[in-house]
Amino acid sequence: MQTTAVAHPNIALLKYWGKQDAPGNLPATPSLSITLDSLTTTTTVAEADFDQFRLNGQVVADAKVLRTLASWRRHHPIPPLTITSHNNFPTAAGLASSASGFAALATAVDAHCGLDLTQVERSELARRGSASAARSIHGGFVILRGPDWQAQPLLPEAAWPLQVFVAITAAGPKAVSSTAGMERSRTSSPYFDAWVASAEVDFAAMRQAVCARDFNALADLAEASCLKMHALMLSSHPPLLYWNGVTVECLQVIRALREDGCQVFATVDAGPQVKAVCKLDEAKRVEGALGQVAGVGRILRAGLGPGAALRQGRPRSC
Ligand code: DP6
Repeated sequence: MQTTAVAHPNIALLKYWGKQDAPGNLPATPSLSITLDSLTTTTTVAEADFDQFRLNGQVVADAKVLRTLASWRRHHPIPPLTITSHNNFPTAAGLASSASGFAALATAVDAHCGLDLTQVERSELARRGSASAARSIHGGFVILRGPDWQAQPLLPEAAWPLQVFVAITAAGPKAVSSTAGMERSRTSSPYFDAWVASAEVDFAAMRQAVCARDFNALADLAEASCLKMHALMLSSHPPLLYWNGVTVECLQVIRALREDGCQVFATVDAGPQVKAVCKLDEAKRVEGALGQVAGVGRILRAGLGPGAALRQGRPRSC
């Protein structure tokens, strides 16, 4: 008896970077994201004698997964589980694999163990694993903010279709995880308090831009949030530099397209990959321009997608 759930990564347009000094994995700043469609994490859970986590065919001792299961078990009856997870995109390279991973896991565990959670409660479960995972419970444009820090849908995926390209500029996992990196920024950057203080105003402006479907306003705000987060990373001690030369080249190309009137903007997370978001009718031009950047390996293509959902298997009580 097993239960399978599917979830998609999301890309934050307004970034979360830094946690509150409190239990529950609570962000220090609100965030706003888009859930993607073609990138997928598929996770199957089954009862076992002890916990075991397999990722992309290999057994891994993932401390974050074990810690998260322990925190879920403090509130819910969850037996030992075999967890088998597969990503159809590069893992741990700044592509939000932990977001889709914990969203799929929370969805599978909820159904398999008959926890009967609401979508909002499931998002809280996912957040305990990885705060960005709370957002992948929902599709389209999603917000995550206090005081409850449960993600909420803002606009469904069909309401404002956009195209996303992910330019892969380096393979392999990043040197410093998001969790470790944001803690370093919180404890060492002289700009961390200013980052937190400005977040609510930035969030309100972006929320308004999305509701008005104002692409140019969204583009300005998303690029500003991304660059502000990377400035915070750079000001941490030791500095966090997630970019490589090709990352910068891609950012320049997207900037040149924008200056030429193309409706596109770029964003980068805790890794070297560049995500370009554009209107559907600009897709060919954007993909062509990124494809000409020397050093860009693959270009992944996605639209906006749905929230986490069960794929197959009959849920049962544990
Ligand atoms: C740069 O959600 O991976 O992608 O809560 O510690 O697991 P943890 O961090 P995580 O951080 C995501 C950081 C980001 C920005 C974002 O997605 O908002």
